[in-house]
Amino acid sequence: MIDQETIQRIMDAARIEEVIGDFVSLKKRGANHIGCCPFHNEKTPSFYVSPSKGIFKCFGCGEAGDVVAFLKKHEHFNYPEALRYLANKYNIEIREEEMNDEQKEKQNERDALFHLSEFAQKHFADLLYNDEMGRAVGLSYLRGRGLSDEVIKTFGLGYCLDQWNAFTDHARRNGYSDEVLEKTGLTIFKDFERSELEGRSSEVGEQSSGHTTESGKERRQIRRSYDRFRGRVMFPIYSISGRVLGFSGRVLTSEKQAAKYVNSPDSDIYNKSRTLYGLYQARTAISRANKCYLVEGNIDVISMYQSGVQNTVASCGTSLTTEQIRLIKRYTPNVTVLYDGDAAGIKAALRAVDLLFAEGMHVRVVLFPDGDDPDSYAQKYGSTQLQEYLATHEDNFIMYKTRVQLDAVKGDPIRRAELLHDTATTIALVTDMMERQEYIRQCAYLLNTSEDALTSEVAKAINQNRQKSYEAAATTESTPAPAATPAPAAIPADVPQQMVTTALRVDERERHIIALLLNYGDRLIADPTPGSNADEQGEYPVATWIVTALSSDGLSFSDPRCQKIYEYYCYQQQQGLPADASIFVTDPDDAVRDFAISLMVDTHRVSNSWWNLKHISVPSIEDNLQQDVWESILLFKAKYLDDRIDDNARRFRSASPDNINDLLAEKKALVDLKRKIGQDLHYVII
Ligand code: CTP
Ligand code: MN
Repeated sequence: MIDQETIQRIMDAARIEEVIGDFVSLKKRGANHIGCCPFHNEKTPSFYVSPSKGIFKCFGCGEAGDVVAFLKKHEHFNYPEALRYLANKYNIEIREEEMNDEQKEKQNERDALFHLSEFAQKHFADLLYNDEMGRAVGLSYLRGRGLSDEVIKTFGLGYCLDQWNAFTDHARRNGYSDEVLEKTGLTIFKDFERSELEGRSSEVGEQSSGHTTESGKERRQIRRSYDRFRGRVMFPIYSISGRVLGFSGRVLTSEKQAAKYVNSPDSDIYNKSRTLYGLYQARTAISRANKCYLVEGNIDVISMYQSGVQNTVASCGTSLTTEQIRLIKRYTPNVTVLYDGDAAGIKAALRAVDLLFAEGMHVRVVLFPDGDDPDSYAQKYGSTQLQEYLATHEDNFIMYKTRVQLDAVKGDPIRRAELLHDTATTIALVTDMMERQEYIRQCAYLLNTSEDALTSEVAKAINQNRQKSYEAAATTESTPAPAATPAPAAIPADVPQQMVTTALRVDERERHIIALLLNYGDRLIADPTPGSNADEQGEYPVATWIVTALSSDGLSFSDPRCQKIYEYYCYQQQQGLPADASIFVTDPDDAVRDFAISLMVDTHRVSNSWWNLKHISVPSIEDNLQQDVWESILLFKAKYLDDRIDDNARRFRSASPDNINDLLAEKKALVDLKRKIGQDLHYVII
């Protein structure tokens, strides 16, 4: 809601070397400033800031962008947050565009929920140290679990008194309404029949100010309130910018009847499937280590943190969701799953694999000895041994999965064949070719089968996936193309998940081609497909291959940002001029600029450090550039052909007898072309 004029004033005022200079110590060298990159560990500076171009770039890890991109990346701000930060730094007054009444009301409601949640967190934390019961019961429990005062503070832990309405009344006295108390879930309201209450009024908060409604002569309903978390230690759940969204509360007694953990219900500010416990405290460590540990419980997160493994989060109270994976992905593609070694833990871990792989994450597993979770292990053996255990017990997920299932198969030939198929299906989800081949090699060994046999199973599975996504893409075809400046992929909650993934996948294909143009456009590669004689054709820049391949078929992009960047490359090529990706860093069109920068930044986050499995050379986009480019071109063409085949089929249905032969001929030509592409693809991928 910041108006364009203000944005312009902010961008004009912001000096990139000053802004970055607040976080990184920079030295002037020639026209540039240089320093040690804040996005990866380095001792010799390879991080450049160019005041004249208004951009930064690290030649070590490849991070690059303008001042807003820096703040987004370093401070994890979103676009408006970055602008507000700059406005504040440069004393520029922000004129907010007027919100309409509905927006204002919504904003006020959310603010009230945030406000109360923060108030509650402070109150619970205060009781833990400054209330007699808080100390005697809450604090002594947490200390008994081996947690230090330092982590108790870092995680904002607290205690909710074991009384029906202690918190609710305290909040009311401070001016919070019942409506807001109910919406945050901190207070539960319940209607009782008057008769139900006879004799137990002392049990459910007598002091409550519940109102009475009269319906009919005899039936009287009474609304009573009580604290949801009474008698529990409180774990606040933070957003990534550090705002309190909700709570988990743990019982202190070992009585079986009470649930061990109670969580805040979803509200206007809290959605449990889109939140990860501990991410706020872990986010910097995750970026720095380029790796995230995923554990099961709140205490596991805190215990790991205290043991020096600060890059740890939990998906508490739910099984892992796609949204949660995408949250992690903002910081790293590498996840190590730490689940209990019991049957339930293994099952939960297995369930996560396809989900994580489908999101393109690199997954590993550490199994704890039966009966231990990360917390109990850390408390029993100490932090040094925990860290050593983690370092020496990582297994890659596919191997882990195959091993676990192989145990269950026990020589049954039918189930073994199923396992082979199953393993191939999982491997097919791996997007990186080198990785895929390594999995094939290892699993073939484990399953006692030949690499060729497994390779062909995997190829089959890949083709099936592709087929499925084309079919699904065809059904979403009628969705209108995004308007000129599409909002960043905000997915409305009511869109079925299936559709979302497919839509993203098609979109992904376009973006990937543009990312290749922007990042590797001038690299020289050859054409690997059979029939092309590499010696004769020689090597040409990636941009030349892509532009030639797509323009010869008159292909275009559905995303206008992609189309704009692509057209620039076409034009430069036509004119015989070199292309320069950095012009998009300062593109006057915000949508294009942000989009281009994000692609430059993302594609450079090549996963070098994660894949240090023994015996495996490190793959990266650069190493596989030739395959990657051709795979992308062919997939793009295949999608285009599918669209045309569908179109042909549509026309065929309503064709007049005169046209039928033409349409059939066209169809044959299209199908032949597609078969050829299929063969080329097969050749390129496997
Ligand atoms: N659970 C939950 N909400 C949370 C945390 C856990 O509903 N915020 C559930 C988990 O799904 C699990 C159970 O509570 O079913 C126990 O969680 P776990 O982390 O295994 O706890 P324990 O290790 O048994 O106990 P502690 O956390 O005290 O170590
Ligand atoms: Mn535990």
